[in-house]
Amino acid sequence: MKTLRPLQTIEKLENAAALDPIANKARDIVQAVIRPGALRDILHGVPIGHPLHPLMILVPTGTWFSAAILDAIPGSKKASAILIGTGVASAAPTALAGWTDWSEGQQQQLRVGIVHASANIIAVVLYSLSLIQRLRGKSGKLLSYTGLVVVSAGGFLGGHMSYRQALGANHNEDVPHRVAAGWHSIGALADLPDGKLEKRVLGEVPLVVFRQGSEVSVLSNTCSHLSGPLNEGEITYKDGNPCVVCPWHQSGFSLKTGEVVQGPATSPQHSFLTRVVAGTVEVSLPNAG
Ligand code: FES
Repeated sequence: MKTLRPLQTIEKLENAAALDPIANKARDIVQAVIRPGALRDILHGVPIGHPLHPLMILVPTGTWFSAAILDAIPGSKKASAILIGTGVASAAPTALAGWTDWSEGQQQQLRVGIVHASANIIAVVLYSLSLIQRLRGKSGKLLSYTGLVVVSAGGFLGGHMSYRQALGANHNEDVPHRVAAGWHSIGALADLPDGKLEKRVLGEVPLVVFRQGSEVSVLSNTCSHLSGPLNEGEITYKDGNPCVVCPWHQSGFSLKTGEVVQGPATSPQHSFLTRVVAGTVEVSLPNAG
């Protein structure tokens, strides 16, 4: 089935370089305001293991859609106004989480995202004006129905960013399906330099390997955030435990467990069990195959 013509226009947004100046400027502002740290990690969704933004959009879109239904039912004016006000109040924190994720995206994601955000800002303005009209005893329905159309268009772009462009998706998900169950050799222990990140490949799956004496830690090498190569990252220590920091957007992962110690990544890296047999390092991924 062919993609509908208007939707092909949306695909072209990804390559609209004319959007770069404003998108890059907005990204710089977001990155300057929301600095690395606990707040940024919360906005990314690190504590819940998934991006926070998709969860939060339920409030404004849910309340606004519900208000649209109530507006079609006589006698629901007050309830509609409460729902619209709730949606307007929730828009700022929802947008903050979205801007935070977006600011760590690739250029094509930034282009679509700046249009997505613009549509949502227009929708918030329309709903705010509708609320003002309602508080003054007027209908406000035309403004809110127009807002619903605009926020739906913005939501469609958000879906494109999430599902087509995979911003927020786990870029590491396929690893257990591409690794056979059981133990596999990845080479001699003596060939691994101590205290450095090394890349090895298991079948087609790249691994990042870190040796400390006779202890070896092995993670999938493709960063769960946007596929950065972890073996080119830096080693840091958190609470005495070695971590790797992705070279692309500085997500941090524990080398021992794969857990996220710093966003923007929200999904952990796959962590392999390791053992040394007759000088050869072997790895096994729980739940592989
Ligand atoms: S690819 Fe973005 S932090 Fe690794």
